[in-house]
Amino acid sequence: MNRMRQLIDERVEPARKRVRALIKEHGARPIAEINVAQLYGGVRGVISLVNETSALDPMQGIRYRGRTIPELIQRLPRAPGGGQPLAEGLLFLLMTGEEPTDEDVAAVAEDLRARARRFDQAVPPALAALPPDTEPMAQLAVAVLSLQHTSEAHRIYKAGAHAKDLWEGTYEDALNLLARLPALAATIYRRTHGLAAPQLPDDLDWAGGLAWMLAGEAPLFAEAMRLFTFLHGDHEGGNIGAHATHLVGSALADPYYAFSAGVAGLAGPLHGRSTQDFMRWVAPLVADGTPSREAVERHCVATLEQGQVIPGFGHAVLRRVDPRYVALYRFCRERFPESELVQTVGLLYEVVPEVLKSHGQDRNVWPTVDAYAGVLLRQLGLVDEPFYGVLIAVSRAIGVLSAQVWDRILALPPERPKSVTTDWLERYLARH
Ligand code: MLT
Repeated sequence: MNRMRQLIDERVEPARKRVRALIKEHGARPIAEINVAQLYGGVRGVISLVNETSALDPMQGIRYRGRTIPELIQRLPRAPGGGQPLAEGLLFLLMTGEEPTDEDVAAVAEDLRARARRFDQAVPPALAALPPDTEPMAQLAVAVLSLQHTSEAHRIYKAGAHAKDLWEGTYEDALNLLARLPALAATIYRRTHGLAAPQLPDDLDWAGGLAWMLAGEAPLFAEAMRLFTFLHGDHEGGNIGAHATHLVGSALADPYYAFSAGVAGLAGPLHGRSTQDFMRWVAPLVADGTPSREAVERHCVATLEQGQVIPGFGHAVLRRVDPRYVALYRFCRERFPESELVQTVGLLYEVVPEVLKSHGQDRNVWPTVDAYAGVLLRQLGLVDEPFYGVLIAVSRAIGVLSAQVWDRILALPPERPKSVTTDWLERYLARH
């Protein structure tokens, strides 16, 4: 047993005890209320979920187990000679709450490689049966679900495991699925482009291996994938992909079912697809080189006047610039300073918030990761925009599968919020 699993084992009983005590002492105390606008507004901002792996601060951005993005970029272990945090380190942190050593990260990397080798790497038959022009996110959801027959959580459930022990099967599934996702993603990419199935790398880290299966030996691509997967690794529990995973898992459906639901959620234009949509939106601006400030303003105003949103700007929770955007911006400015796309997106940073403010949007105007993730991928030569969502989903698996393990450790029950009809609401408001 490696130290990651050992630490989780040690934390199970204290975590359960802590939650039992909270419910016993404070079970009846309200911590949130909801108004009518929130009820019709996606329950936005209403505290209604527990998610142990990360929390989103409106000003500072995501905190992975309490640590900010800039802190972890400095502190998490890196690949030899590299400057970006390794996905294995993030996984260790999210799973255990503890920052890993280099040895911990090496052990997790070896565990993931061994798990990837243990499973048949042939293209899953369900994937092979899909027309290659099937949306990449649909291919990923199908591929993940088609591996469900290997679920350990499902096996031990059928064998009569108690709900409180299901987390052990969930942990196995989380690690097995994570181990297989880079090859699945590379398979989807390669078959879409008529390329041979990927070979597993012998000794690379998780994100470096993903890069290698997509693009071969390319150190810059590998570093970029390390940063990309780290930045997209988790974003607390209420975003659609995380919430869908959590919700489906709360029925004790195993991680293959739960994560395929998360992938389906991430495919939506108002979620993971906005990276792709941003690239489509910015394309006419850069068609003739770096545009003028006036041209950028005109494009923004025209978008708003057509009643559309500017993709990549504004976030449900964040009220400052997304630190994930800042990290990608720094990476791209350093590596690709001559790029017209990079320069144009720099201009957007200056122009869009002002345009949004002048159109009455005052709090929610700052760029998010979606306004830079596609820019990075394009600089790396990945021009297949529908595939971008797959890379986001594969990265996000680190967080939502870690959260799934903790959901089962805490034995969180099925989610079952109460719904009401508009008739009921009108009657209620007339009486109160
Ligand atoms: C995410 O990374 O999931 C997005 O920023 C959406 C969100 O947090 O609501």
